[in-house]
Amino acid sequence: MANYGFLGLGIMGSAMAKNLVQAGHAVTVWNRTAEKCQPLVELGGKQAATPRDVAAACDVTFAMLADPVAAREVFFGTQGVLAGIGGGRGYVDMSTVDDCTSRPIGTAVSDAGGRFLEAPVSGTKKPAEDGTLIILAAGDRSLYEEVQPAFDVMGKMCPYFDTVGQGARMKLVVNMIMGGMMTALCEGIALGLKGGLDGKRILEVLENGALASPMVKGKGSMILKGEFPTSFPLKHMQKDMRLAVALGDYLYQPLHTAAAANETFKNACKYGLAEEDFTAVFKAIT
Ligand SMILES: NC(=O)c1ccc[n+]([C@@H]2O[C@H](COP(=O)([O-])OP(=O)(O)OC[C@H]3O[C@@H](n4cnc5c(N)ncnc54)[C@H](OP(=O)(O)O)[C@@H]3O)[C@@H](O)[C@H]2O)c1
Repeated sequence: MANYGFLGLGIMGSAMAKNLVQAGHAVTVWNRTAEKCQPLVELGGKQAATPRDVAAACDVTFAMLADPVAAREVFFGTQGVLAGIGGGRGYVDMSTVDDCTSRPIGTAVSDAGGRFLEAPVSGTKKPAEDGTLIILAAGDRSLYEEVQPAFDVMGKMCPYFDTVGQGARMKLVVNMIMGGMMTALCEGIALGLKGGLDGKRILEVLENGALASPMVKGKGSMILKGEFPTSFPLKHMQKDMRLAVALGDYLYQPLHTAAAANETFKNACKYGLAEEDFTAVFKAIT
């Protein structure tokens, strides 16, 4: 069994690291808020004091961090991954970031004698717990092959996108569409309710027609109940819309719908909904 490290034990990272431990791998964990390591330690993981210690001790270190700022700090910080990586050891950053973040990290890992993969994931808390994520990998091919046992534990498929940056871009495409779909779904339900339609009947029609999807089915009922337990924090959805819109700016690709959805998610953050599930954008729409 491999000797893995895991940095970042939030909603996703804690479930993913747990699956690695429960599959029998040796896993050393680190989290900025150290107490969050305790459940993993109780399951048999080891806790390290810094990202540097993890990267120096483990054959492959995975990271699942909030955003580009967190990814950079954990990697380039004084006690960061860069200070410990080398000797052919691997670093696999699974956070959702832009390619402007993942490419310099990849270059720095290679320059230090390590190997790098970006591997953002599609799928939320439940797929992370069930080990059924879609892992969008790009970067060092030998590392990609070497970490298959870990990807098998965390995901159900792991397409390979060659050059670092392409995995990040694929992930932003997925979430940009999802953010736009969510705001359209919320506006549609809000319009129907204000127009005197019954919420259950609205969903029944949507779920049986061309718009049927796991998102409409799962999130539609949350909207009607008005309960938004967090699987995917709204602040992260807004971050992904922001990064997708920025990529569109860079590539001169017009993104009218995504730009409008980004404004809606920004507004929801302003109304104090950042920590709720991204479905809570409904509250900012109604
Ligand atoms: N939740 C989902 O459904 C989902 C699905 C696919 C992809 N993602 C992506 O996966 C990543 C993690 O998501 P999540 O839902 O697990 O987020 P989360 O619960 O908010 O966890 C974020 C993690 O990043 C750490 N962190 C934040 N800022 C940091 C900093 N400056 N330095 C060091 N560590 C920092 C947090 O540490 P503390 O515990 O100390 O705050 C925590 O471990 C994000 O990029 C998100 O967009 C999420």
